[in-house]
Amino acid sequence: MKKIVFLFLLQATICLGQKAQIVRGPYLQSVTPNSVLVHWRTDIPAPSRVFYQAKGKVLVAQDTAYVVDHVLALTKLKPATKYAYQIDSQSFDSNRYVVTAPAFGSKESVRIWALGDFGDGSASQKAVMKSIESYTQGNRPDAWIWLGDNAYSNGKDEEYQKYVFDVYQTAFLQNLPIYPSPGNHDYAGKHDPSLPPYFKIFNMPAAGQAGGVPSQSESYYSVNYGQVHLVALDTEMRESSGLMLRDGKGEQVEWLKKDLAANKLPWVVVYFHKPPYSKGSHDSDVELDMKSMRENMTSIFEQYKVDLVIAGHSHVYERSYPMRGHFGINETFDAATHVVAESTSPNHYNVGPKGQGVIYVVNGSGGKVGGQRPGFPMKSSVYTNNKIGGSVILDVDKRTFNLKWIQSDGVVGDEFVIEKR
Ligand SMILES: [Fe+2]
Repeated sequence: MKKIVFLFLLQATICLGQKAQIVRGPYLQSVTPNSVLVHWRTDIPAPSRVFYQAKGKVLVAQDTAYVVDHVLALTKLKPATKYAYQIDSQSFDSNRYVVTAPAFGSKESVRIWALGDFGDGSASQKAVMKSIESYTQGNRPDAWIWLGDNAYSNGKDEEYQKYVFDVYQTAFLQNLPIYPSPGNHDYAGKHDPSLPPYFKIFNMPAAGQAGGVPSQSESYYSVNYGQVHLVALDTEMRESSGLMLRDGKGEQVEWLKKDLAANKLPWVVVYFHKPPYSKGSHDSDVELDMKSMRENMTSIFEQYKVDLVIAGHSHVYERSYPMRGHFGINETFDAATHVVAESTSPNHYNVGPKGQGVIYVVNGSGGKVGGQRPGFPMKSSVYTNNKIGGSVILDVDKRTFNLKWIQSDGVVGDEFVIEKR
């Protein structure tokens, strides 16, 4: 009966000629050197059609099925190329475009924006967004990585609408590809990946199409972007075996080891939600999920010479020294033993053939801000800030890796450079 009523309404809508209105998006997923998935939502079921254009030539992708959640793949694109696109129209708009990823192995510089713990509807969330809009005018980010707790408080579809799509749509979502990772709020405090709307809203490049070893899981995946290998992990998902990332074993960890072993790019950034080291709004000395990340995962990051581990969850900014072998609580940190760096200044590291320590950044202040636990700032921190929100811009080419923490007031609060010979 329900089906008949639905079909009747659909027919009536078509007969009346009502045009479907876009109520979410468009937003860009799984961007590779040759393809992109364009997502959007309409108020009524409708066919999907995207016109896209490069160098004056207009192409079209379409699907005749009536849906409200649309996903269309644009394929056979050229690497590092800007395509204007439009939903069901050829009235192209200068802010609606996709730039495909650089060809695999490309040595051109890339700019990546990392944002954590943002979707709370706060004034700080909007200020952080504005600070990046203004800082990157003239040199826009190429890719956007999310550190989890993307939509408060329970990662519901309507929370994503209100606190993510309604906030970032115009300035970023229609032209900046997202490579997300989920947080505990996106999982509503649970651990079953079949539940969160997150996995319905986003499409991750799990088949290795963006580079890296195929993960065959939307929870974790990797992306080769210019000279940087980006690895997104899921600290919240419990595998059918009962294991989680923090246990340091299981399917996700086995995939991670294979992926990192196979990587040929000079720079590796691993990102996920719950940090191994923090004394902000969460405490890695005593909270089991973070303590276990420190005890069971940091040796893997060291073994595979990861350059940067960046996480959220703690609503502050914390940047560590390049470290190795610091597996204990904050008090056990000993600079003479644990700092591994060839440095020309506190903010300039050189990496020779022997490798380096891993730098850990916590930046869960893309919306939420503040908090400190006993021991803040950590002994292993070079710089911390729990007073103002912000987010991270990475500029990476073959030899140089530059990280800047852009505060919501536009000030560059922290910056360091790593150079590889
Ligand atoms: Fe969190």
